[in-house]
Amino acid sequence: MSVSINGASQVLRPPTDGLPYLRHDLAGRLSTEPGSVVIEGDRIAGFEPSADAAIQIDARSCAVIPGFVDCHTHLPFAGWREREYEMKIGGESYETIARAGGGIRASARSLAEASDEEVLSQARALAGEMLAHGTTTFECKSGYGLSAEGETRAIRLAAALSGRVAQRTRSTALLAHAVPDGYEAGAWMEEVEAMLPDALAAGDVTALDIYVESVAFDNDHLRRMGELAKRSSLDLRAHVEQFNANHSVPVALHAGARSVDHLACLPEDELAGLAGAETAAVLLPGAEFLGEERVAPGRALADAGAICVLGSDLNPGTSPVLSIPVIIGLAVRRYRWSALEALLACTLNAAWVLRLSDIVGSLEVGKRADVLVLDGPIERIAYQFGRNPVAFVFSGGELVHARADCAPRISR
Ligand code: NIG
Ligand code: FE
Repeated sequence: MSVSINGASQVLRPPTDGLPYLRHDLAGRLSTEPGSVVIEGDRIAGFEPSADAAIQIDARSCAVIPGFVDCHTHLPFAGWREREYEMKIGGESYETIARAGGGIRASARSLAEASDEEVLSQARALAGEMLAHGTTTFECKSGYGLSAEGETRAIRLAAALSGRVAQRTRSTALLAHAVPDGYEAGAWMEEVEAMLPDALAAGDVTALDIYVESVAFDNDHLRRMGELAKRSSLDLRAHVEQFNANHSVPVALHAGARSVDHLACLPEDELAGLAGAETAAVLLPGAEFLGEERVAPGRALADAGAICVLGSDLNPGTSPVLSIPVIIGLAVRRYRWSALEALLACTLNAAWVLRLSDIVGSLEVGKRADVLVLDGPIERIAYQFGRNPVAFVFSGGELVHARADCAPRISR
């Protein structure tokens, strides 16, 4: 099938083709010139309108951008934890709730009680909503299994989900998320090492992840996870500096982490090291906002030239948020980022975290045609906070979502 998206007032393009990522001090080099985008089959074919294309889209006054890449979600999970949110609003801390058996443990119980079909149908419904908000690639994490069998099942469910959604997915094994009952953290890391062959056989895992925090694991465990990742030729990712400064970033950098995620409590003197490294700073402003966490130093990281990334952190605890437009709105307001900075962080740079930036994440001839048409300029995404600006979604060249009020823009 061929598609010609015609006469857009902005087309978001990288400064040159073939970039694996773009450091954030260079975000201003992205181009938003007016233009058109042509899709042939599942690929982007060019930027001159084609009268021969089978589908014509009138994109006047619209922006055309790459599909969003959400490189940090905790899908698939079971149920929600809205009662905990009420407790947090009432003043209870995440740590108190976690120590009282809530938090990650509560979601682990829900996952264990749910059937495979129940878990998959909840995740599929969420993936459908994510698609309507422009997410064409997302990451899945295990982490609510909290036993060797549970984690292996979560990885198997992520693989099953991959075949049932319109998006491209990646699977991360978050094998050290909370210390399961009956274990010390160190003993659980022994278990992690032992379960690794089975866990990796359960699905196409590309990264290992760990949660470093007072209620979870420490920097020695992070080092150990780094060794396990290296030995298995997997990327290391790490949840760090969310509620406390644990000085985990230098440890993660030393271990060669692909990304460090959260960073709300990143100490000032550890920022330059991260900004200069080939390790992405994945910021999760949904969790920061809803958990009244500190605000990550997004402005300083961008100015210092870090590889900045945004994710939804979609999970039933800290961030039940699936909308990347909402995440962009939070990042622009709270980090004082431009629209270009925010978009770079959830397209090309997010694709790099998942080792997919040679295929998706930017509008280039030959790349997979994951393309969004927004119903207004890119600056309006953050400005009309909470609104979904996505009019059309193409995934691999297929029109997978069209907003009803924008249907008159299509002619066949
Ligand atoms: O990224 N911080 C640890 N993990 C998740 C929260 C998980 C949960 O509360 O269920 C996060 O915020
Ligand atoms: Fe997370």
